[in-house]
Amino acid sequence: MRHVAVKDKRWDDHYTRLARRERYPARSVYKLQEIQKRFAVIRRGNRILDLGCAPGSWLMYAAEITGSTGCVAGVDLTPVTISLPAHVSVHTLDIFELVEDPAAVFAQEFDVVLSDMAPATTGSRGVDAARSYNLCEAALAVARQVLRPGGAFVCKIFQGEDFKSFTAAVQTAFSECKIFKPQSCRKASKEIYLIGKGKTGGPHVRS
Ligand SMILES: C[S@@+](CC[C@H](N)C(=O)[O-])C[C@H]1O[C@@H](n2cnc3c(N)ncnc32)[C@H](O)[C@@H]1O
Repeated sequence: MRHVAVKDKRWDDHYTRLARRERYPARSVYKLQEIQKRFAVIRRGNRILDLGCAPGSWLMYAAEITGSTGCVAGVDLTPVTISLPAHVSVHTLDIFELVEDPAAVFAQEFDVVLSDMAPATTGSRGVDAARSYNLCEAALAVARQVLRPGGAFVCKIFQGEDFKSFTAAVQTAFSECKIFKPQSCRKASKEIYLIGKGKTGGPHVRS
């Protein structure tokens, strides 16, 4: 029991307490807030797709910005149990199923695709980074299919040996690509975010 209490205290930082006070289900909301303050990716009336959306703090925050003239759709392996406004919908799905044919699930184009997906961690940095890269590749493939031309993409990746090639892929698909580490990321974490703006070309058709 003592071990659990010590561990909980270690993870219960400023952002965790703030999230509890502000009634967000996860501290990760402050990462998206920092990204939004710096890059203004989400606008009122936008259609947002949030990949890896559970437990739902990015859904809540994105929905506050879009307002009810926009909409937010979330996808996660895990069901989202919090109550959400009517302009938010959630699909309990594996990204690797979605990537085959996103148009079968979403009849519309999106202005922004967000991905905060993370694999279950193993303790091996190399394995975790490789799994994160697989999720990022799937997120980018979905973004290329569902984003309108000019749309934006935000994607978390665990830095590892595939980081450079994933950055190059985002640079190819978007006219602008930035790399950003929010202050609210835990210091020990290897996670970092890529922000692609200005999706180039028309909808991507998978062969
Ligand atoms: C860090 S959490 C996201 C937190 C979320 N942004 C929030 O603010 O509430 C990462 C999520 O990625 C999801 N995930 C991992 N692999 C996935 C996959 N193959 N398909 C869909 N979601 C996945 C996990 O289930 C987990 O809920």
